[in-house]
Amino acid sequence: MKIAVIGTGYVGLVAGVCFAEMGNAVICVDTNAATVGKLRNGQSPIFEPDMDELLARNIAAGRLSFTTQAREAVDGADLAFICVGTPPRDRDGEPELSLVYGAAKDIARAMTGPLTVVIKSTVPVGTGDAVEEIIRRTRPGAVVSVASNPEFLREGSAIDDFNRPDRIVIGVEDLRAQETLQRLYLPLCAAGAPLIVTRRRTSELTKYAANAFLATKISFINEMADLCEKAGGDVTELAAGIGLDERIGRAFLNAGPGYGGSCFPKDTCALLHTAQEYGVPLRVVEGTVAANNARKHRMAIKVMKAAGGSVADMKIAVLGLTFKPDTDDMREAPSIPLIRHLQRAGARIAAYDPQGIRQAREHLTDVDFHDDPYECARDADVVVLMTEWDEVRTLDLARLNRVMHTPTMVDLRNIYAPELVRRFGFRLAGIGRPA
Ligand code: UGA
Repeated sequence: MKIAVIGTGYVGLVAGVCFAEMGNAVICVDTNAATVGKLRNGQSPIFEPDMDELLARNIAAGRLSFTTQAREAVDGADLAFICVGTPPRDRDGEPELSLVYGAAKDIARAMTGPLTVVIKSTVPVGTGDAVEEIIRRTRPGAVVSVASNPEFLREGSAIDDFNRPDRIVIGVEDLRAQETLQRLYLPLCAAGAPLIVTRRRTSELTKYAANAFLATKISFINEMADLCEKAGGDVTELAAGIGLDERIGRAFLNAGPGYGGSCFPKDTCALLHTAQEYGVPLRVVEGTVAANNARKHRMAIKVMKAAGGSVADMKIAVLGLTFKPDTDDMREAPSIPLIRHLQRAGARIAAYDPQGIRQAREHLTDVDFHDDPYECARDADVVVLMTEWDEVRTLDLARLNRVMHTPTMVDLRNIYAPELVRRFGFRLAGIGRPA
């Protein structure tokens, strides 16, 4: 099939290379000429395992190309995927939809034959209706279907998630769109991916419900961790104890510094806006968001306590800055409020991250950045394990102890067994574990 992909962010680029790898002819569109220039040379703007290889192979095979002109991509296409960003608006945190509507107009002007337009961007319920209206207004009489096909991939394992999804959800209002999407996804379905076919509005809501539910699991286990700390329990064992119940599941029950990234914080807030609009209270999601916000302050207090009550004039080394490993993404990373809080309390901050330093510089000032964890921790009073990168999981604890001023560790991801860390001479504060 011939496919146009509008937007080469996380969702668009991953979808583009994966559809090409499945044998389709894919043209990706981005208005940023510099990004398109780099992509044409096989350089990915995002850090994602396997991306470089897939880019190179599919460009070389002539199945994948890049342009700044929607017309070039949409001309003769069977499918046009809208994969542009929907970042939270400054004024109210609601998703900014102007890029989605802009893409809809561009597609309408450029289409040359029957077309299925598919919204892959995360958009509030009803956006599909609005996109359809824009296209019909711009091109009266055009043969067009508008479908929803949310993406559930995770940064850091995006290509694998795309190729082996737990499910594919398509929201359609007509048979033509349904058949076109079923044909497109046939290889993934043949390999075992379940396909849920539903109406467009259900599909749009499904995306938000999935992210809100996952965020709720995280906030739930984080609050259980707080209770464990006070009441004398171990949250990692508690998570195993409840997670083996198949109805609960062990995934997303790792207590930590709170969820971050470009999805959970934004999507939970957007869902609450939608709920408000329809007059339906979502108290569970409200609690999830409130717990995650409260966590930012709580983590800073935890570090201060571990430091003996105050961090004034101390050197704190933060290992890992990104909101999770295997990404360079710093959006809504819990490291940002933590570091700012500690700086306000008088601490000097050194920070290490394998991929995130370039982006971290845009969010943080007065931080001494390092590309080596031991240099970062040299003469530090406290080391904070913030992100569970492999490099942070496999530290030489004896060496870490030697370079530090005082060996105090705050392990916000429960990476190391407490006995082990103590054997290496550290004082340890973890999450939801006995002190
Ligand atoms: C999330 C969802 O997992 C994807 O399914 C979804 O497609 C994506 O949002 C999206 O809407 O685009 P992502 O934001 O890439 O993916 O990252 P996750 O792996 O879900 O992690 C999110 C945050 O939760 C991270 O800060 C992570 O550290 C935290 N987390 C995750 C925990 O604190 N504990 C856990 O057990 C799991």
